[in-house]
Amino acid sequence: MEIPSYVSVFQTSEQLALAAAERFVEAAKHSQETHGRFSVALAGGRTPTHIYELLATDSFRNRVEWSRVDVFFGDERCVQQDHPESNYAMAHRALLSKVPIPEANVQRITGEGDPTESAREYEARLRNFFGPMPWPRFDLVFLGMGEDGHTASLFPKSEALDEPLQLVVPTKSPQGQCRITLTLGAFSHAARIIFLVTGEEKAATLSDVMQRQSGSRRLPASLVKPIDGTLEWLVDRKAASGL
Ligand code: 6PG
Repeated sequence: MEIPSYVSVFQTSEQLALAAAERFVEAAKHSQETHGRFSVALAGGRTPTHIYELLATDSFRNRVEWSRVDVFFGDERCVQQDHPESNYAMAHRALLSKVPIPEANVQRITGEGDPTESAREYEARLRNFFGPMPWPRFDLVFLGMGEDGHTASLFPKSEALDEPLQLVVPTKSPQGQCRITLTLGAFSHAARIIFLVTGEEKAATLSDVMQRQSGSRRLPASLVKPIDGTLEWLVDRKAASGL
């Protein structure tokens, strides 16, 4: 198949990480120049870890005005904030503990609480932060994709995919792990959405996603469509081997 223009293929995951870090810096600069601040929803999982580590290095850290960055999370596992599986813990270890971002600028999802209450509370925080807008308009959303086509904690055929109004809902992974996730509506109003996908094990799913222009509930990542923002997929050669 012809690789869509919004897909960038990188020879290695390192080159992908560098490109993603550059896009973060560029998006932050643009947002802070145009409306004073930069709001970003971070992805969890393994793929973005090195990107966050790069952003904390001298090559990137000093190119971002961290005092005007607002960090959110696309999803969280229902664990304590210092749990090895916590997306917050990963981002804190890789990036947030190494850059001068005020603690008040980091909006952690309280995975340790009651999932429904935590989802409701995070939704209230989003609505408060983004003010009168009916939907959050993140300046940048990073997302990953699982081998089953899930993204954030929106899993195949989940009823969360049909949520018309709420921004944040509790879900469960196919393995039964409790999660809290932003909904498609919460993501789709972002100014810029960037998927980050590496590895041979995702090649078949990525090919499937790329062939579904209208999207499929079987492949939640294919349902993420920015309404008036931009969508970009950064993939490495191994993940792109099925394209
Ligand atoms: C999570 C993420 C999830 C992740 C994919 C890919 O909480 O795990 O939100 O959607 O992005 O599962 O994970 P890897 O990057 O580890 O392959």
